[in-house]
Amino acid sequence: MTEMINFAHRGASAVCPENTMAAFRKALEFGATGIETDVQMTKDGKLVLIHDEILKRTTDGQGFVKDHTWEELQQLDAGSWFHEQFRGERIPSLEQLLHLTKDQGTIINIELKNGIIQYAELEERVIAAVRSFGMEERVVISSFNHYSLVKCKSLAPEIRTGLLYMEGLYRPWEYAKTALADALHANKYAVLPEWVEEAKANGIVYHPFTVNDPEEMKKLIAANVAGIITDHPDLLHRLLNT
Ligand code: G3P
Ligand code: MG
Repeated sequence: MTEMINFAHRGASAVCPENTMAAFRKALEFGATGIETDVQMTKDGKLVLIHDEILKRTTDGQGFVKDHTWEELQQLDAGSWFHEQFRGERIPSLEQLLHLTKDQGTIINIELKNGIIQYAELEERVIAAVRSFGMEERVVISSFNHYSLVKCKSLAPEIRTGLLYMEGLYRPWEYAKTALADALHANKYAVLPEWVEEAKANGIVYHPFTVNDPEEMKKLIAANVAGIITDHPDLLHRLLNT
């Protein structure tokens, strides 16, 4: 049996500023075997790891990510909004995360943030980055934009894809086959143990998000989901190892 993947949501985001190198390093320290992150694109086409389309919440900058160059974004502080001790953290690039995890065996869940802004060639650039690190087998690309995931699959059939969704889709494993996806990145309320079984029988796995309550984690572990996306990879690590 394959071991359940402990995905740190935006890194160890309960104790570090989300989507920073500090959060990713802490996730590895905490025993995460996977890291979930969000990718947006700069004005000059660089892939950057930041959840929102705009800079305000998680940096000291203003405006949209898409309207700034990589160089400009590197001047911003992405840590002090969370805690003064993280002042100096920068918005990382996707390459920086792939470099950090390349020799660690970590599974990287790259969430394409192209539901609101349709970044031109986002899929091509993400796939090229993953291939340049030789990490095709270790990546799951997810998105709420399922058209984008079908595009990824046609460009890179060797890279897994995961459908993000919030609600109780009817027989999502059948829909997953239509969308050529490998995994269901379901909101935690849209998962029942019998669905996990049926999905598995159809060759589709569940990676629910965002699961922070230990009792909910235990239920999903018992249901045999293939992975859990959590802000608390340390807590999940303990549950998986007791
Ligand atoms: O990938 C799971 C989760 O991150 C999706 O929602 O808004 O946290 O990126 P969000
Ligand atoms: Mg995300």
